[in-house]
Amino acid sequence: MTRKTSATQNAAALNARRAEFSAALLEWYQRHARVLPWRENPSLYKTVVSEFMLQQTQVKTVLPYFARWQAELPSFAALAAASEARVLKLWEGLGYYSRARNLHRLAQAVTARPAPPQTPEEWRELPGVGPYTAAAITSITFGAPVACVDGNVVRILARLTADATEFRDSSSAAKALTSLADNLVTADRAGDHNQAMMELGATVCTRQNPACLMCPVRHFCAATKQGEPHAFPRLAPKQIEHRSVTRLWCQRDGALLLHRAAAEARRLALQHELPSAAHLGLTEVTAAKGTLLATKKRGITRYRITESIYTCAAPRGKLADELVWVPLPELSSITLSGPHRRWISEIIERA
Ligand code: ADE
Repeated sequence: MTRKTSATQNAAALNARRAEFSAALLEWYQRHARVLPWRENPSLYKTVVSEFMLQQTQVKTVLPYFARWQAELPSFAALAAASEARVLKLWEGLGYYSRARNLHRLAQAVTARPAPPQTPEEWRELPGVGPYTAAAITSITFGAPVACVDGNVVRILARLTADATEFRDSSSAAKALTSLADNLVTADRAGDHNQAMMELGATVCTRQNPACLMCPVRHFCAATKQGEPHAFPRLAPKQIEHRSVTRLWCQRDGALLLHRAAAEARRLALQHELPSAAHLGLTEVTAAKGTLLATKKRGITRYRITESIYTCAAPRGKLADELVWVPLPELSSITLSGPHRRWISEIIERA
C-alpha cells in the first residue's frame, strides 16, 4: 500500500466516524478550553479583533493588546471613527501592521452597511480577511459550517491520518487538507468545533511534544498508532537565508533621523525604524565607517538577519519624504517597530 493510499484510507475511516470524533473533541473542549477574553461574552467585534490579532501571533502575546484595544476602541463604530495614527499606535509591537490598517478599513466598511455580512464569501471581500479568518469569524459568530485550517489544524489532521505527503509549505498543506477539515466540522456547533481544534493544536497536539496520553481523540489517530506523531506533518525544509543590514544612528540637535515605511507596506505600514544604508543612499562600506553602537540578530520568516547600527553624520541637502527628524522626547508618541524601540532605548540609556 502506498503512503498516499493509506492516508486516503485513514481519512475515509476518520470521516466515517466523524460524529464520534466530534463528540469526543467537543466534550474535551468544554472541560479544558482556556479562559480567553474574546470567549467571555463573545461578540462579532471581539471575534473579529481577536482573529486579526491572532494571525501570525501567539495567544499570550495578543492578550495585553486585546485588553488595551477593547478599553480604547470597544466597538466597530469606535474603531471606524478613530484616526489611523491611533489605531497603529495601539498595534505597535504586534507586527504586520497592515493587519491594523485592514481592520480599521474593515470597521469602516461594516459600519457603512445596514448589517454585518454573515457568510464566509462575503467576509472574504473585506480587507485583510483570508479563508482562515472568514471561517473563524462566521463559524464562531454565525455558526457557518466551515473549517478553519491553520498550521495547528494541519498538524492535527496530518497526524490523525498519518499523511506522509511532503507539503511545500503550511498554506499548500492547508489547501490539501481543507476538504477533510470541512467534513469533520459538526454542523450545529461549528464555532466550538473550530475553537476546539485550535485549542487541541495549541495545548495538546503541539509540534515538539505532543501529549498523546492527554488527547481526547488519540483513538482516532493513525500517527499515534504507528508510534510516531512527531513525524507529521512533513513540510519541505525552509531555505534559511542570512542577511546583513547596516543601520544608521544619526542624531542632531536632540533629534534622531528615522525612516517611515510606506502606508501600503504589509509588515511595517507607517512604522518608523532606524534608516538603513540604502535609505540614506550610502553603500554598506561607507555606512560602516562610523562607530559601531550595537549588533542585533533577529529572524523574520525564513531570513536570519544581523543588523549593525553605526553612528553617522547628519546628511546634507533635502531629505526624501520618508526620512524624518524626530525629537528624542517624541519617540514615545510615534509608532516605532518593536525591535527598533528596544534597540533605540538601549542605545539612549547607554549614552
Ligand atoms: N487562534 C486563532 N483564533 C483563535 C481563537 N479564537 N482562540 C484561540 N486561538 C486562536
